[in-house]
Order: sequence, then C-alpha cells, then structure tokens
Amino acid sequence: MSVIFPKWMNALPTLGALGAMGGAAVVALGGWYWATPDFFEVGYSPVQPGSGFDHQIHAGKLGMDCRYCHSNVEKSPEANIPSVSTCNACHGENRVSPARSSATDEKVQFIRDAYDEDKSIEWRRIHKLPDYVRNFPHDVHLTAGVSCLSCHGQVKSMPQVYQDQGLGMGWCLDCHRHPEAALVPQDKVTDLLWVEGELNARAKGQGTTDTQALLGQLWDAPPQTCGACHQ
Ligand code: HEC
Ligand code: HEC
Ligand code: HEC
Ligand code: HEC
Ligand code: HEC
Repeated sequence: MSVIFPKWMNALPTLGALGAMGGAAVVALGGWYWATPDFFEVGYSPVQPGSGFDHQIHAGKLGMDCRYCHSNVEKSPEANIPSVSTCNACHGENRVSPARSSATDEKVQFIRDAYDEDKSIEWRRIHKLPDYVRNFPHDVHLTAGVSCLSCHGQVKSMPQVYQDQGLGMGWCLDCHRHPEAALVPQDKVTDLLWVEGELNARAKGQGTTDTQALLGQLWDAPPQTCGACHQ
C-alpha cells in the first residue's frame, strides 16, 4: 500500500475508507481524476469589506499593472494582497488623486479609517486550493509565460473578482499535458487584454506567436507525478 499511498495522503479523511477497500483503491485513483469537482466553486465572489475593490476601475480603466499591487507574484510562490498603505498612497486624506468628488471620498473612507487606526483591511479570500495541494508556485508559472488570464479570467473587467476557473486536479493536468496552448511571451503575462485577443485568435488558427518557440521559456516540462503538487 505504501507505494500507492504516499505519506501526504495520511491527511486525507477518505484514506481510511479507501484503505479498507484494498484493491478497489487502485480503481478509485482513476476515479478521482474524473470525480474532482472541477466547477464546484466557479463564480464564487464573497462580499468584500468597506466599498470593496474594483479591478475594472483600477486595472481596467486606470490601466494599473497587476504587479503594482500584487508585487510578489513573479518573485514568490504566493501572490500577495496589497497593504493599506498601497491604497492610501492615492486615497489618503491629503492626496490629490483621485479627483475628489464627495462620492469617492465616502467610498474610500474605510481605507483612511484603517490607515489611521493602523489596521489591515480583512479582504476575503476567493481562490484557495485544499491544504493537501502543497505546491502551487505563482512565480514558476509566470516565468514560464502562463498569463493570469488563463487561471483568473479577464480580471480587468471585473468590478468584483470572482473565481473564473474550477482549479480542480483535471484542470491543472489538462494544461500540464498541453501547455503550449496557454503560453504567451513572458513580458505579456499581465497584459490581459492582449492575451485575451491572442488566445482567441490562436483558437481560430490566427495567433501571432510561435507556440513551439514559447516552449523554450519553460524551465522544465510541467509535472504530472503526484508528488509534484501533493508532496
Ligand atoms: C490597485 C491595486 C490592485 C491592482 C492594480 C490589481 N489588484 Fe488584484 N487585488 C487587489 C486587492 C485589494 C484584492 C483583494 C480584494 C478583492 O479580492 O477584490 C485583489 C484580489 C485579486 C484576486 C483575488 C484573490 C483571491 O482572494 O483569491 C485576483 C485573482 C487578482 N486580484 C488579480 C489581479 C490581476 C490579474 C490584476 C491585473 C490585471 C490585478 N489583480 C490588479 C488589488 C489590486
Ligand atoms: C494609483 C492610484 C490608486 C491606487 C494605488 C488605488 N486607487 Fe482606488 N481609485 C483611484 C482612482 C483614480 C479612482 C477613481 C476615482 C473617481 O472616479 O472618482 C479610484 C476609486 C476607488 C474607489 C471608489 C470606487 C467606486 O466605485 O467609485 C474605491 C473604493 C477604491 N478606489 C479603493 C481602492 C483600494 C482598496 C485600493 C488599494 C488596494 C486602491 N483603491 C488603490 C486610484 C487609486
Ligand atoms: C497557473 C494558474 C495561475 C496563474 C497563471 C496565476 N494564478 Fe493566481 N492563483 C492561482 C491559484 C490556483 C490560486 C490559489 C492558490 C492557493 O490556494 O494556494 C491563486 C491565488 C491568487 C491570489 C490570492 C492570494 C492570497 O493569498 O489571497 C492572488 C492575489 C492571485 N492569485 C493573483 C494572480 C495574479 C496577479 C496573476 C498574474 C500576474 C496570477 N495570480 C496568475 C492560479 C494562478
Ligand atoms: C494554463 C496552464 C497551467 C495550469 C492551469 C496549471 N499549470 Fe502548473 N505549470 C504549467 C507550466 C507551463 C509549468 C512548467 C513551468 C516550468 O517548469 O517552466 C507548470 C509547472 C508546475 C509545477 C512545477 C513547479 C516547479 O518548481 O518546477 C507545479 C508544482 C505546478 N505547475 C502545479 C500546478 C497546480 C497545482 C495547478 C492547478 C491548481 C497548475 N499547476 C495549473 C502550466 C499550468
Ligand atoms: C498538477 C498538479 C497535480 C498533480 C500532478 C496531481 N494532483 Fe491530485 N490534486 C491536485 C489538485 C489541485 C487537487 C484539488 C482538487 C479540488 O480542489 O477539488 C487534487 C486533488 C487530489 C485528491 C483529492 C480528490 C478529491 O476528490 O477530493 C486526491 C486523492 C489526489 N489529488 C491524488 C493524486 C494522485 C494519486 C496523483 C498522481 C497520480 C495526483 N493527485 C497528481 C493537483 C494535482
């Protein structure tokens, strides 16, 4: 059994039941791939604190780059959420931008309150893999040329972020088997409008990039072995 069930799986509540099934567990392994509920949480979009945060205004209309706020996304496995001081740089009491309409003043008051009280804003998390998926590195994917668009959708047109993709195991593996379909030049990964146009064109056989050449951006072939993601 130790070969079929590596150590990490001890954390799975289902293990006991499957162990009891003995040989049937091998069949169940195949079943998991299909049984993983790929679309379970698509659309999930919890109400955020204060007046929330509008990506359509900031990343869309104002054209701010994702990395202005998610500054670690290319440098670390975890994407960071910006601190209050990042927001306060524009929305603080004495700032000139944005143009000070009283409506906006009211909507950003929660930022000033948090800043004055030295508190953080408790943004509610949207994308979350189960704990037994130990390894999901943002940095590696972005360096390889996988755009935020492929995993988070067209965030530039989201007034409120929602989960766009299923994030199930089959979803990860589908791309790992055929990564070339999703790859874009490294310097375009946060240019979500360009990427959307390119991937749409590619689907019609009219893409402008050489997908085979883009495979050269990979450090290694995307892993399909259990331990790579579960450890
Ligand atoms: C001005 C700062 C700012 C910019 C620019 C920005 N974001 Fe965000 N982002 C936030 C904040 C604050 C949150 C947390 C609140 C929320 O979920 O809406 C967030 C949340 C997210 C989430 C959801 C995280 C979770 O909880 O799962 C994703 C995905 C995301 N951003 C992607 C992007 C992408 C892609 C871009 C570039 C197109 C971008 N962001 C640009 C500030 C920013
Ligand atoms: C580079 C400057 C800049 C930064 C940084 C910034 N904003 Fe804004 N924000 C703006 C501008 C410009 C507007 C549009 C104001 C208007 O239309 O009156 C705006 C509008 C808003 C509004 C009002 C939205 C609405 O529905 O009208 C909220 C709320 C807001 N921002 C929250 C945030 C939060 C939270 C952060 C930090 C994660 C942040 N902003 C970071 C420039 C910025
Ligand atoms: C290959 C798919 C993929 C790509 C590409 C990707 N993400 Fe993610 N992102 C995820 C997954 C999966 C999670 C949940 C991770 C977890 O739970 O450990 C996530 C989580 C996040 C979070 C929430 C982090 C937190 O701690 O609350 C933010 C913010 C985020 N991503 C922003 C981005 C931005 C910005 C980009 C592009 C620059 C990007 N992501 C590219 C798949 C991706
Ligand atoms: C849209 C395509 C795509 C999706 C979706 C995707 N990946 Fe990947 N992943 C890649 C590519 C391409 C690489 C190869 C990166 C390299 O080695 O340069 C990779 C590599 C990895 C690696 C190896 C990292 C390393 O250090 O070598 C892990 C682990 C991984 N992915 C986990 C995941 C998980 C978990 C998911 C699902 C939640 C996921 N990936 C979804 C494209 C994707
Ligand atoms: C590319 C990354 C990746 C690889 C490789 C991978 N998994 Fe997974 N696995 C995931 C993700 C992501 C989930 C979480 C799915 C979800 O949230 O429903 C998962 C879920 C699971 C689950 C729980 C399923 C459920 O329905 O709750 C089991 C068991 C599992 N994987 C076993 C395996 C085995 C055995 C292998 C090797 C044959 C493997 N995984 C290879 C990413 C991966």
